[in-house]
Amino acid sequence: MARIALVTGGIGGIGTSICTRLAKDGCTVIANHHPSEAAVAETWKKDREAEGFAIDTIAADVSSFEDSARMIKEITEKHGPVDVLINCAGITRDKTFKKMEHAQWDAVMRVNLDSVFNVTRNVWEGMLERGFGRIINISSVNGQRGQFGQANYSAAKAGMHGFTMALAQEGASKGVTVNTVSPGYVETAMTLAMDDTVRNSIISGVPMRRMAQPAEIAAAIAFLAGDESAYITGANLPVNGGLFMH
Ligand code: CAA
Repeated sequence: MARIALVTGGIGGIGTSICTRLAKDGCTVIANHHPSEAAVAETWKKDREAEGFAIDTIAADVSSFEDSARMIKEITEKHGPVDVLINCAGITRDKTFKKMEHAQWDAVMRVNLDSVFNVTRNVWEGMLERGFGRIINISSVNGQRGQFGQANYSAAKAGMHGFTMALAQEGASKGVTVNTVSPGYVETAMTLAMDDTVRNSIISGVPMRRMAQPAEIAAAIAFLAGDESAYITGANLPVNGGLFMH
């Protein structure tokens, strides 16, 4: 039977590629989006249909525990229990720390890190009971090495991998794997929002001298989501063009 996959932030730059890749691999895919993006999500769904993908969408603010619980309940009733969860929802609020306001810290923590608890907590017990699950947390190279102007984002992204390593231990004997994928700079609206000079200087520091395509990130996620990756857990897979090696 087809695995049921939920991608938070599923209509975003990386999220879209993950959705289509998992659909190609035979999963029933549900793309989560923020409630404020209802109109965009409707167009997104039609665009995917035109490409031959039947991907359902669901609105929920994953920074809210209650809304995340409601989302999981609705998905379970409509499609069945979630087998594969990709925590991909994320935002940036870049500022040098001396200028960073509490609201910018808080927004990034809630969306990038709290969401991982909010959504995972609502699928976790079901995965343990059924003896199968794949949780993949989309972190960032900047959670591994830090980035000027991103004290909030780097902290949240590093936190995601701490969560991965702890939960991997709790799921290991139950068939549930938990892994992190840490993309480098990827061609999406998020990186396009950066100042051109800053972006070009970052690209010149990438050994491959280019940004990643979203599909190159999705390929790593599809690998970890597959049944054959059952023995990989607690890992942090970098997909960064050589930008950071450890
Ligand atoms: N190292 C050291 N100094 C740096 C620096 C760096 N990497 N980058 C900038 N600076 C310096 C500048 O030269 C400038 O110096 P002066 O004050 O002496 O002139 C100062 O820092 C910048 O000061 P500003 O007042 O302009 O700073 P700001 O608070 O307005 O913010 C910034 C600047 C928005 C953080 C900008 O530097 C920036 O956009 N940096 C890139 C952040 C980044 O990489 N974001 C990634 C977004 S994509 C993403 O997050 C996806 C992913 O996972 C990879």
